[in-house]
Amino acid sequence: MGIAKRFKIASIGAGNVGASVAQYCVELDLGDVVLTDIVEGLPQGKALDLTEAGPIRGYSSQCVGTNDYKDIAGADVVVVTAGLPRKPGMTRLDLLEKNGNIISGICENIKKHAPDSTVIIVTNPLDVMVYLAYKKLGFPPNRVIGMAGCLDSARMRSFVAMELGVSMKNVDTMVLGSHGDDMVPLPHYTTVSGIPITKLLPQERIDAIVDRTRKGGGEIVALLKTGSAFYAPAASAVRMAQAVLKDEKQLLPCAAYLNGQYGLSDIYMGVPCVLGREGVEKVLELEISEADTKSLHKSAEEVRTGIKGLQELGVL
Ligand code: APR
Repeated sequence: MGIAKRFKIASIGAGNVGASVAQYCVELDLGDVVLTDIVEGLPQGKALDLTEAGPIRGYSSQCVGTNDYKDIAGADVVVVTAGLPRKPGMTRLDLLEKNGNIISGICENIKKHAPDSTVIIVTNPLDVMVYLAYKKLGFPPNRVIGMAGCLDSARMRSFVAMELGVSMKNVDTMVLGSHGDDMVPLPHYTTVSGIPITKLLPQERIDAIVDRTRKGGGEIVALLKTGSAFYAPAASAVRMAQAVLKDEKQLLPCAAYLNGQYGLSDIYMGVPCVLGREGVEKVLELEISEADTKSLHKSAEEVRTGIKGLQELGVL
């Protein structure tokens, strides 16, 4: 029997999402976590606090905080959550320049200190930031992945479960497209223990769930008033990290680099991916309706506008 490898996960950004990533990772005993931030003391304080919870929660994974990127050396997975969260009334594209510069700087450091890692980007606007990271890192595209669909489909799963009064574990969904109002939730690929929701709910209820899923991020922003969602985004990123670290071959919706799939090229978009040790090991091309294809391409246009914006700003 071989000796189990002890994995190393770097969480860049020790804010709400990044600290929750660290928490979920140690709770799952996925590996040792290096929590990194530019604010002095913040990652160190949160890491020590998490370490001190360990004896009670019963994990043996370690968490350390740092302001020095040298400490991410040897990381198997790097989760990037650094950046500004969306504020009320702010569109994802408003964040473009600020977060674009942050991501560029972080990618320089990942390239230097953790060149063999698989990188999961969480920072918004997601599809544009993950494309920027791919370009800046120069890693093969399978090792640069965006966290979006996993979160959007978790939201849809929750809404379907709430509507039907069934366990969330029974619900499966698929959401394509960009992480924003133009995402493409797929009710035809949504099931409850194998039963299509189209057989369980009237069309107007399905439409309402699709609409709530599209606006899921905004709903939380409006409630919190300061900051944006963090538990579900962090849980989604950790789900992806786990699939990679444990070579699980999990079929999850992720923002992946497209090279002709769904008629789209040289763009990152949310699509069903098989995640394993090599990162995105396969992109599945589903049969989708003409209307959904149209929405997907509309969603791609929004992403291309963001990429063009970055180019005009000189960030890309
Ligand atoms: N390097 C490291 N950390 C940085 C950098 C940088 N260059 N720039 C900013 N940060 C840190 C901030 O100091 C802060 O601690 O990123 C952290 C962001 O944390 P929050 O403000 O709490 O934001 P959070 O809610 O975690 O969201 C982060 O994830 O879901 C997305 O839209 C969200 O883009 C946002 C990101």
